[in-house]
Amino acid sequence: MGVLPTASDAWNEEYRRGRYAGEPPVAFVDDILAAAAREGIDSGLYVGCGNGRNLLPLVDGGLDVMGLDVSAEAVRQLARRRPDRADRLRHGDLESLPVGRTWPLVIGIQVFQHGNRDQAHRHIRAAQRRVEPGGLLCVRVNAAGTDVWPAHEVTERGADGGFSVSYTAGAKNGLDIHFFSGDELQQLFDGWPAVLPIRAHRTERTPPAPGQWTQWEAIWRRPRP
Ligand SMILES: C[S@@+](CC[C@H](N)C(=O)[O-])C[C@H]1O[C@@H](n2cnc3c(N)ncnc32)[C@H](O)[C@@H]1O
Repeated sequence: MGVLPTASDAWNEEYRRGRYAGEPPVAFVDDILAAAAREGIDSGLYVGCGNGRNLLPLVDGGLDVMGLDVSAEAVRQLARRRPDRADRLRHGDLESLPVGRTWPLVIGIQVFQHGNRDQAHRHIRAAQRRVEPGGLLCVRVNAAGTDVWPAHEVTERGADGGFSVSYTAGAKNGLDIHFFSGDELQQLFDGWPAVLPIRAHRTERTPPAPGQWTQWEAIWRRPRP
């Protein structure tokens, strides 16, 4: 059996192939900027910032966002694109950050879905611990209503409708990826008031790619003790 690919290997390769180059930000960025402005928040942490299609509009919208990513290639590309932000980028995951450090705003766009259900849930819990009491956690993740494509095997199904797959083709070949049900995601934020209630954002794939992919988007506030 060969060595299993890691998310960082797969994403390094994807960014070298030009992933997201020239792509516009997701519309959720406007919701994040609006929520931050309402709350008077001017800084935050972006987990899985990639090569910057969403991070740079957040920065240009007035947020001093620190970017964190396990892909060294993503961080390199972003630093090359915006040298003025190089000292606000970090190659690593949440565990690599100083113990106990929190931010008033934490953002995860299409990152907390990496791994199986247990890994995805642990990642969300770890991100929650990085939010200051009263601060905001902005989440966009895979939804279970997605027509999963390309080839994959379903590896687990939860009673709440969430499931995980292992891809057998394409850019994520060999990677485990989780698809959350709405109830499952809501349950992870039990006791966190919604600033932007959970909603589904659906995107039709461009033919010949089949079907659609759906993402949950929401912003929650960490309760104050
Ligand atoms: C689907 S891409 C999204 C990138 C960016 N958020 C965007 O929307 O353009 C997922 C990103 O998460 C990163 N990633 C995956 N697991 C991670 C982890 N545990 N910690 C930090 N970054 C991670 C990958 O390297 C990749 O850049």
